Amino acid sequence: MGKNDKIVYQIYPKSFQDSDHDGWGDIRGVISRLDYLQELGINYIWFNPMMISPQKDNGYDVADYRALDPRYGTMEDFEELVREAKKRGIDIMFDMVFNHTSVEHEWFQRALAGEEKYKNYYIFRRGKGPGVPPNNWQSKFAGSAWQYVEQFDEYYLHLFDVSQADLDWTNPDVRKECADIVNYWRAKGVHGFRFDVINLISKASFEDDPNNFDGRQFYTDGPKEHEYLRELNRASFGQDPESLTVGEMSSTTIENCVRYAGEGTEELDMVFSFHHLKTDYKNKKKWELQPADFMELKGLLTEWQLGMQEKNAWNALFWNCHDQPRSVSRFGNDKEYRKESAKMLACMMQMMRGTPYIYQGEEFGMTNAYFTDIQEYADVESTNIYDVLLKEGKPKEEVLHILQERSRDNARTPMQWDDSENGGFSDVKPWIRSQAGYKEINAANDRSDPDSIFAFYQELIRLRKTMPVVQEGLFEPILEDHTKVFAYKRVLGQECLIAVNNFFGEETEVTLPEATDGYRVLLSNYGRTEAGQTIHLKPYETLVLYKA
Ligand code: GLC
Repeated sequence: MGKNDKIVYQIYPKSFQDSDHDGWGDIRGVISRLDYLQELGINYIWFNPMMISPQKDNGYDVADYRALDPRYGTMEDFEELVREAKKRGIDIMFDMVFNHTSVEHEWFQRALAGEEKYKNYYIFRRGKGPGVPPNNWQSKFAGSAWQYVEQFDEYYLHLFDVSQADLDWTNPDVRKECADIVNYWRAKGVHGFRFDVINLISKASFEDDPNNFDGRQFYTDGPKEHEYLRELNRASFGQDPESLTVGEMSSTTIENCVRYAGEGTEELDMVFSFHHLKTDYKNKKKWELQPADFMELKGLLTEWQLGMQEKNAWNALFWNCHDQPRSVSRFGNDKEYRKESAKMLACMMQMMRGTPYIYQGEEFGMTNAYFTDIQEYADVESTNIYDVLLKEGKPKEEVLHILQERSRDNARTPMQWDDSENGGFSDVKPWIRSQAGYKEINAANDRSDPDSIFAFYQELIRLRKTMPVVQEGLFEPILEDHTKVFAYKRVLGQECLIAVNNFFGEETEVTLPEATDGYRVLLSNYGRTEAGQTIHLKPYETLVLYKA
């Protein structure tokens, strides 16, 4: 299987490398950093959308699927990027945002101008009465999910920002347009596709949510999801034996994901699911803080590993992305044990069964941004929720603290390459402020240390590329009741690997279920060279044992 030895590196292009002095990352900037990525060892780059977009949701509001925003560069720049990446053994994955378009997209504009054909690309409905939207669904970015359009006396659905109108996938023309867009990028040499919130495209019905929740039960993993994905597969990427696809699945279930990403189901190669990243949501609410519930986290990771493996389906493995706060700040300790906990989290995630995704800056332990002023935030979700929480009566300091922990902008600040101005990202003011700590936390500084986080990531990547047990071994949980340690085995024939991860900043002890004779230490973040059956673990210690 082509996906087993892949390691995907996610680039948030707006914040990766500016080459033309406008404070905005670009394609030529990425080209200048390809050697760095080759040294890291990754073999795929996923780019967040770089198409023409009013940037209301940082490119997830696409106004033209076939044209690059000139701020990122030209099509020639992109073609050069594809060639230069390929020379280094790296393929490109593009982000396809097909649940919605920007309201500035030509289709929506023509719909507004009264062209019936394009009006049918979107979901327009009559309200329940004057000023009352068609149902009580809430947008994921706060407020009603419906926007009134006076000339039609109707509302359009937007599950995200008001500028992101949902497409109507029951319309075969919409499905054909989407397949054509994938094929357009395939012809440009793109083999990988990430499908944005793709499990929201099939809406079951438009009734009120009886629980007064946001309505997700009616539009998540809907009745025609699997059919639409198979159709898209056949009409586009499925024709390319080298394609690699991942679906971003919002609030999904294992039952659906074994089909989305099952062997031979002809839908996608793998899925992003997010349950493990909600274990620090108090009462399941994103804007209510609590420390991660470790037993819940461990239980969820185990359940998804086993549930997917049982049906021969495939997970994407990740802690970080452009929508999540930085894992080292969130689940590790970004002060006293930044290095140790960054390595432990990487090892714990990447030794599991699936395809690892590394988010820019993770490989040297970038932390949350810790902005102190709402003016520093750019993200529409963050600024909206700021207003909502203030209106609910929360003190400003508390709201700012919540954003420091939860805002998506924590991950979106400029890449910290070195200690020069703006961390080497740009020599002019970046579109979003650089983190205060870049002089200390940056790629160059980390790599000057022989024991760097970067070197640890290189080793993890090398193991994934070279060891069949890492690629294909079956996942088997061990020490399931241990309250501090997440440990598991990977087994392939005679080969066996044991990963032991102390999730906490205190020492602890484990006794493995078997003697360790015949095992050797494959990886350690404390320079450990041997381990018996009982191991006294240091804070955030991670250890991989291997026997052939
Ligand atoms: C996905 C993207 C996120 C975006 C949303 C709407 O969750 O990752 O950044 O805001 O979809 O497109």
